[in-house]
Amino acid sequence: MIKKVILLPGDGIGVEVTQAAVKVLNCVCEMFGLPLELQECLVGGASIDAHGIPIEDEVLAACQEADAVFLGAVGGPKWDRLPQDRRPEIALLRLRKELGLFTNLRPVKVFEALLNSSTLKPEVIENIDILIVRELTGGIYFGQPKFTEVLNGEERAVDTMEYRTSEIERIARVAFDAARSRRKRMHSVDKANVLVTSQLWRKTVDRISTDYPDVTLEHMLVDNCAMQLVRNPNQFDVLLTENMFGDILSDEAAMITGSLGMLPSASLGSEVGLYEPVHGSAPDISGKNLANPLAAIGSIAMMFRYSFEMEDAAQRIEQAIQNLLNAGITSFDLGTGNRILGTIEMGEEIINEMQAFFLPYI
Ligand code: IPM
Ligand code: MN
Repeated sequence: MIKKVILLPGDGIGVEVTQAAVKVLNCVCEMFGLPLELQECLVGGASIDAHGIPIEDEVLAACQEADAVFLGAVGGPKWDRLPQDRRPEIALLRLRKELGLFTNLRPVKVFEALLNSSTLKPEVIENIDILIVRELTGGIYFGQPKFTEVLNGEERAVDTMEYRTSEIERIARVAFDAARSRRKRMHSVDKANVLVTSQLWRKTVDRISTDYPDVTLEHMLVDNCAMQLVRNPNQFDVLLTENMFGDILSDEAAMITGSLGMLPSASLGSEVGLYEPVHGSAPDISGKNLANPLAAIGSIAMMFRYSFEMEDAAQRIEQAIQNLLNAGITSFDLGTGNRILGTIEMGEEIINEMQAFFLPYI
């Protein structure tokens, strides 16, 4: 069966890492005899420049009909002064909301070859394997009302943090199921000492936990969690968080692995999955062939795992990433290897590695 994938390179280094990722996608489809149809569309600043809006309805419709969507990154200083409803990020938020992608999986894995790339001590980060399960279509990102006004001669802005029981239940089940297939430990992150949304979160997670007596659940306040992630990340297996806490904690957790350029992600919840590197558009290094494509390539692995249910293809890609790093090949953000490569060259090395690794099995 032919798989249709929509490519949304977006802005900045999103474009470069997408090019590298697509080569890997094509290569793996060829290796596994999977027919593939690709369609590239504009989102974010690129769409604003071409069409005046962050994402066109036709693009959303195309994504809705695809098997999977790959997104590079959106945003950049050029579009930073636009009003909220026309910002590049709106493309991503609409995609998440309108595709029903309430689950965001962000695996944080430390590769042994990169133990010295992190700013944390090697003994603190050795063997770290955390799965962040971030709620993605609720909370303060989407709550209403959301507005800016002038009140008594000064500006006033309002965001609303909002959660319903059903939204918490479904993401909690995803996290518990994931924990069940891993080390059976879950930390649910909240700010229940201050926020009523967090109190509902904690109560709901507790109730769902009775269906998972084999999973050890602990509640952790988000400020404490931020501290524990750098103090002793080894205590974590699955981290369940609401939308904004997950955004913040996943950038922090990325640094355990050495670089934000290492973290892939999958957004799931409906027929179509959205795959994107966690890093942003990095305007400071964009267009210089410096970006690390491994988060993007790792996101392609996740596409094979979750959208195409091809675990062997996913592992082939992940193995190639590991072999490359073990061979001392890195990008400049990782900086410890004996060969520091650019985006294009690194993508090519991954493909060489996959093919070399594949040959004996033909
Ligand atoms: C992420 C990003 C997005 C978010 C932005 C670009 C809207 O930071 O995916 O982590 O905040 O969710
Ligand atoms: Mn983020």
